[in-house]
Amino acid sequence: MNTNKKAYIETFGCQMNERDSEIMGQMLATADYSPTRDIKQADVIVINTCSIREKAEQKVYSLLGRIRKLKEEKPSLIISVAGCVAQQEGERLQARMEHVDIVIGPQHIYKLPELVDKAAQRNKPQPAVDLSPGFTIPPYSPPSPAKSSLKREEIGAKPAYKKFVTIMQGCNNFCTYCVVPYTRGRETSRPPKDIVAEISDLAQQGAKEVTLLGQNVNSYGLVSDGSLQYIPFPELLKKVSTVDGVERIRFTTSHPKDLSPELIECFATVEKLCPHFHLPVQSGSNRILRKMNRKYTIEQYLERVEALRQARPDIALTTDIIVGFPGESDEDFQATMQLLDTVRYHGAFSFKYSDRPQAKAIAFDNKIDEQVKSERLKILQERQNDISLQRNREYEGSVQLVMTEGVSKNGDGQWSGRTMSNIIVNFDGPALFPGQEVQVRITEGLLHSLRGVIA
Ligand code: 5AD
Ligand code: SF4
Repeated sequence: MNTNKKAYIETFGCQMNERDSEIMGQMLATADYSPTRDIKQADVIVINTCSIREKAEQKVYSLLGRIRKLKEEKPSLIISVAGCVAQQEGERLQARMEHVDIVIGPQHIYKLPELVDKAAQRNKPQPAVDLSPGFTIPPYSPPSPAKSSLKREEIGAKPAYKKFVTIMQGCNNFCTYCVVPYTRGRETSRPPKDIVAEISDLAQQGAKEVTLLGQNVNSYGLVSDGSLQYIPFPELLKKVSTVDGVERIRFTTSHPKDLSPELIECFATVEKLCPHFHLPVQSGSNRILRKMNRKYTIEQYLERVEALRQARPDIALTTDIIVGFPGESDEDFQATMQLLDTVRYHGAFSFKYSDRPQAKAIAFDNKIDEQVKSERLKILQERQNDISLQRNREYEGSVQLVMTEGVSKNGDGQWSGRTMSNIIVNFDGPALFPGQEVQVRITEGLLHSLRGVIA
């Protein structure tokens, strides 16, 4: 590419956002912007934001505050805010941050080049944030020869062997703590033929692992009017597993209420499906689950965990937990602690509840004191760390099929890769390439990773 124009993209939040950033990077590349990792070099900056928790949103504002100076030094700089904060704040964001040129919600990322053009002509575009009830993800178009001749580094994409593919977006569940239904709109699924075509192209370009993405992949198949238009998720998994070259399939995220027996069965029958399941539970107390509008009881959740383990005994389970939801008593919190011991998750992401705009729980009474939330979080994380360490030690002595990712960050000159169950392994070995699978004997289980040697 013979352009000097540069784009800098920074991503906050979830894997959906990472994939959206990749798409925006690809579109900017075809509009002749090459990526830079140096924000000072940029002609266009895109901040892809997350508003899931208050803390995530604060990070965005502090970064935006810092880049105000860049715009003063270089008035032609185009600053874009994408993602959930953009959607949530819309015009307010531009009013509060005058140096922001473009505000673009998750349903509008495909318009980015057009808006950048407008902004370049000093024509500040209107925030692109209307949430259309009939929204569909644009049809898949195979990469044109011109586009595919761009190198991966030129478009700032993920490595070719490990790719994310969005299969649905939006959320219809309205958990009372959650902002996502208001920022990403109603659930809408991509047609299976688009998904399979995209994955087949990725496989031809060297993809060995694909992760199917959506806010709630278990209810895949719905379109935005709420009707079931496509095959259910387990059928989609089976289709994807027929794509030659793809060796590992993962998916995220799931809602326990939509975890069907057919999906559980896939863990026994679909060989390429990795034995890892991220199954957010949020709380161990039925009283709190009801107030969260989660639509399942702990007993139902545990039944599904049991069925998953029956189908695939080596499955690693991870979860998300919120502590300090309004009205959470000591007893409720103890029920969550009890759940940790019952399930013995391989890992858990845990958060202090924070009020989110538009989410119902903002109006709930009996908000929990910050200090109590912090104490509960600390107790919970300490217990989970003990369990995660024990879980990782259970791998000691076993041989695991590891997909190499690259050189380990531990500075020991080791390789780093992941087990089928998604645990990081650092290991000694001869020259390998990213995406290569090797058998590794596990010598030590640590809190966040395993150590091993090539078997
Ligand atoms: N406060 C704290 N944590 C939250 N999450 C979602 N909304 C909130 C909130 N208002 C957590 C949930 C979810 C994860 C992505 O973020 O655990 O699963
Ligand atoms: Fe953040 Fe959720 Fe939006 Fe992803 S979907 S960017 S996690 S708020």
